[in-house]
Amino acid sequence: MRLLLPLTLVTLTAGYVHQDGSTCTLYPESLNNDGQAIDDAPSIHKAFDLCGHDGQVIFPANHTFNINSVMNTTNLVNCDVTLRGELRWSTDIPYWLSHSYSVVFQNQSTAWLFGGENVTFRSEEGGWYNGNGQAWYTQNKNQSNQPGRPISITFYNSTNLLVDGLTIIQPQFWATFVSYSKNVSITNLFVNATSDDQWGTVNTDGYDSWNSDSLLVENAVVTNQDDCIAVKGNTTNLMVRNITCYGNYGMAIGSVGQYPLTPDYVQNVTFENIKCHNCQEAALIKTWQGDNDDSSSNGDSGGGGSGLVKDITFRNFEINNVALPIQISQCIYSESGSTCNTSKIAIEDITWSNIKGTSRYNIASSIYCSDVHPCPGLKFEDIEIQSVNSTLGLPMWGTTLQDEVYQCTNIVDGEGIPCNHAAPSNYGQTVTSNVQGTDASTEGSENTEAMNKKGKQEKLAAKQ
Ligand SMILES: *[C@@H]1O[C@H](CO)[C@@H](O)[C@H](O)[C@H]1NC(C)=O
Ligand SMILES: *[C@@H]1O[C@H](CO)[C@@H](O)[C@H](O)[C@H]1NC(C)=O
Ligand SMILES: *[C@@H]1O[C@H](CO)[C@@H](O)[C@H](O)[C@H]1NC(C)=O
Ligand SMILES: *[C@@H]1O[C@H](CO)[C@@H](O)[C@H](O)[C@H]1NC(C)=O
Ligand SMILES: *[C@@H]1O[C@H](CO)[C@@H](O)[C@H](O)[C@H]1NC(C)=O
Ligand SMILES: *[C@@H]1O[C@H](CO)[C@@H](O)[C@H](O)[C@H]1NC(C)=O
Ligand SMILES: *[C@@H]1O[C@H](CO)[C@@H](O)[C@H](O)[C@H]1NC(C)=O
Ligand SMILES: *[C@@H]1O[C@H](CO)[C@@H](O)[C@H](O)[C@H]1NC(C)=O
Ligand SMILES: *[C@@H]1O[C@H](CO)[C@@H](O)[C@H](O)[C@H]1NC(C)=O
Ligand SMILES: *[C@@H]1O[C@H](CO)[C@@H](O)[C@H](O)[C@H]1NC(C)=O
Ligand SMILES: *[C@@H]1O[C@H](CO)[C@@H](O)[C@H](O)[C@H]1NC(C)=O
Ligand SMILES: *[C@@H]1O[C@H](CO)[C@@H](O)[C@H](O)[C@H]1NC(C)=O
Repeated sequence: MRLLLPLTLVTLTAGYVHQDGSTCTLYPESLNNDGQAIDDAPSIHKAFDLCGHDGQVIFPANHTFNINSVMNTTNLVNCDVTLRGELRWSTDIPYWLSHSYSVVFQNQSTAWLFGGENVTFRSEEGGWYNGNGQAWYTQNKNQSNQPGRPISITFYNSTNLLVDGLTIIQPQFWATFVSYSKNVSITNLFVNATSDDQWGTVNTDGYDSWNSDSLLVENAVVTNQDDCIAVKGNTTNLMVRNITCYGNYGMAIGSVGQYPLTPDYVQNVTFENIKCHNCQEAALIKTWQGDNDDSSSNGDSGGGGSGLVKDITFRNFEINNVALPIQISQCIYSESGSTCNTSKIAIEDITWSNIKGTSRYNIASSIYCSDVHPCPGLKFEDIEIQSVNSTLGLPMWGTTLQDEVYQCTNIVDGEGIPCNHAAPSNYGQTVTSNVQGTDASTEGSENTEAMNKKGKQEKLAAKQ
């Protein structure tokens, strides 16, 4: 038996990796252990150690790999990864909360760091990532940005990376994150974060990018309860094309301006051929206010950061029942704060073109630029948005405003924007009612309060 040592060494010590030259094929530990969900992460690490440079790593079809511990498969070189089986992530929440790897940004963390140079990661023949996120949604109880709740997969420190066909069902938190990378393409991505109990899936972004350049996201379908695609600070030269979003916050630049010590620059981003069904928003830019209210808790506090968002195009959008189709907010998380008009992020040269379909309420757009940086170079062309009720011949309820509202504040020489209302500085991301007219019957609604508050501020300013 010992004579077989050289041949079987890998199998015995690494769990279940079959190496054939530069190709490593993985088999799950459960096959050797009466179907028990033994952790496959050690053998996966072994496979990448053996075949991660000038090699291939294959997860064969019809096998379930149990991932019970964090994975760090970075610094790969000329490596092709093929996922045909299921990666099933464990639900030992205390373990993940204390072991997930930091991604630095917002003090968030991740369950899997993946990357390298000249790498492909293809999912095919039904290969998928089962985040087992229900356990996360249920214990999280709708709280925002729970510390330690891990991003499903982070593409880190990568150059020339292609990720094709990745399917992530019930991601634990954000589904994918690209950071410190260059030339990363994610194509044919499918994400579905749907909860089967009363708790929402909160913070299950489909895609986020940060500190990365030359990126592509093409052909994706994302169902979730946060941003469909979110572009964070220091993302440049990003193309997002042919994405279908269900029930989420659509295409977002931001939020940016959270941290005073690290300015955010976002330049040359195009979103095109986008469909949003029953979304909260479709095409937006969101920044923090200009003062800092403590940076100590993950994504939920901060502000005071500076930077620039420039050369952004949103074009060819089909929207269906979207609550707030087009927005710039420079005070996205401090709607009740008094310093809403102080954002230090400059926003310039933004085009919305060929955005067509229906809004849920009587509002098509709300563009609020801060007093510090009024926005030059904003342009609308071929915007045709009608409220769902209007398409049905029904009135908009509880308002005298039956036509679409286009709210605007601090726009410098805008082109084609049919402004017919002032945008309140504190108009939030989640719109739940029509913009109200000025008559008394509308008292009590959130939006009326917002308009009144702005009105009061204007009156005060006029007195001084
Ligand atoms: C996986 O299972 C499907 C359905 O049973 C089968 O058609 C396919 O050939 C199997 N693939 C492999 C590699 O065993
Ligand atoms: C991940 O592994 C690489 C070696 O490939 C190592 O340099 C790096 O420190 C590890 N990262 C973390 C967060 O442990
Ligand atoms: C990655 O691919 C590029 C383009 O083919 C090549 O120039 C570069 O040397 C490759 N990098 C490595 C580490 O092999
Ligand atoms: C970062 O998150 C960890 C838990 O993941 C927490 O212990 C720590 O206090 C957080 N730090 C900050 C600055 O929020
Ligand atoms: C990032 O990748 C490069 C190779 O492209 C490598 O030299 C470097 O060590 C990696 N950095 C980290 C922190 O892993
Ligand atoms: C970008 O990466 C792709 C692989 O995804 C590669 O084919 C292409 O050559 C890379 N582009 C550059 C400029 O290196
Ligand atoms: C997402 O999953 C839910 C629940 O399983 C399902 O009802 C819905 O159809 C899925 N969405 C897509 C786009 O497949
Ligand atoms: C949690 O969020 C979900 C989805 O948004 C919502 O339906 C539910 O009412 C919320 N539950 C509580 C207790 O707030
Ligand atoms: C758009 O993406 C969807 C979903 O990935 C895909 O089925 C469709 O073929 C793509 N359309 C085009 C024109 O590439
Ligand atoms: C803008 O980004 C795209 C990739 O989406 C790239 O092809 C183009 O060259 C960039 N434009 C400039 C001026 O850098
Ligand atoms: C963005 O890049 C600039 C340098 O160009 C740097 O000063 C800043 O800290 C970076 N911001 C972030 C969020 O990393
Ligand atoms: C649309 O019309 C229906 C029926 O009159 C009404 O119940 C609903 O509140 C209206 N929706 C809006 C957003 O006003």
